[in-house]
Amino acid sequence: MSDIVMELRDVRRTYRIGGGMFGKQRDLHALDGVSLQLRRGEVLALVGESGSGKSTLSRILLGLEAPTSGEVFLDGAPVASIRRRAFAARVQPVFQDPYSSLNPRKTVRQIIEAPLVIAGGVAASERLRRVRELLDILRMPERMLEAYPSQMSGGQRQRVAIARALISRPEIVVCDEPTSALDVSVQAEVLNLLMELRAEFGLTYLFISHDLAVVEYIADRVAVMQSGRLVEVADAEALFAAPAHDYTRRLLASALTVPAESSEA
Ligand SMILES: Nc1ncnc2c1ncn2[C@@H]1O[C@H](COP(=O)(O)OP(=O)(O)OP(=O)(O)O)[C@@H](O)[C@H]1O
Ligand SMILES: [Mg+2]
Repeated sequence: MSDIVMELRDVRRTYRIGGGMFGKQRDLHALDGVSLQLRRGEVLALVGESGSGKSTLSRILLGLEAPTSGEVFLDGAPVASIRRRAFAARVQPVFQDPYSSLNPRKTVRQIIEAPLVIAGGVAASERLRRVRELLDILRMPERMLEAYPSQMSGGQRQRVAIARALISRPEIVVCDEPTSALDVSVQAEVLNLLMELRAEFGLTYLFISHDLAVVEYIADRVAVMQSGRLVEVADAEALFAAPAHDYTRRLLASALTVPAESSEA
């Protein structure tokens, strides 16, 4: 088994924007020649200013969007050659907003087991056993099984979204701002859970965050995006200690700007 679990090679993603009565059509290069390797078992954080292409990259990793050009590989195989369902079982998302990502008309049990129902081939009793096991690992009470999303807190909903992502026993979990919609008090709890799950299930994470304190806390490596390109990919410790790229330095500096408490003048 190779050390590289997923890879992007010279991936471009172009959106045609404008046109109509709002002016001329033009191409927006959301990803502009991105090559990136995801190593087995790591937490790779993806940072960069708003609009730099982070979510676009995550959707391409998840197979939700196809690159305009370039290639994506999972365990050395071109993703285009892998069946959709088999791929989905191996690469799963956790999105930012647990309010809009959970179906309000389904119970927790139905939501979590849905990926197994869609994939087929797992008996109802085994599905329920796995749902219970995950609830237990995520420290959610058994009675939550028949609850609806509207009856849960944001933190509980995000746990349900995480359980749904893990039920198919994926290798890779792609998290796009998974804690930024949560109350500060539950952010750390959810982050710690994600890290526990990594050890328990041998997961690899791509983790998008605006919060550099969070990134410093959890990331093994950091990839920095600017205008659709990767400007720096480095070990987290090295990057926070001595960012090589000017853009990274500015990004770190802007996050560390705090109001001056006092001055000696
Ligand atoms: N479906 C789309 N159609 C047209 N343009 C898009 C589409 N999706 C993204 N874009 C554009 O592509 C660029 C990259 O967007 P993306 O959502 O990947 O950025 P991001 O880094 O995730 O930003 P944020 O930090 O705000 O979430 C932006 O200019 C965005 O407006
Ligand atoms: Mg985004």
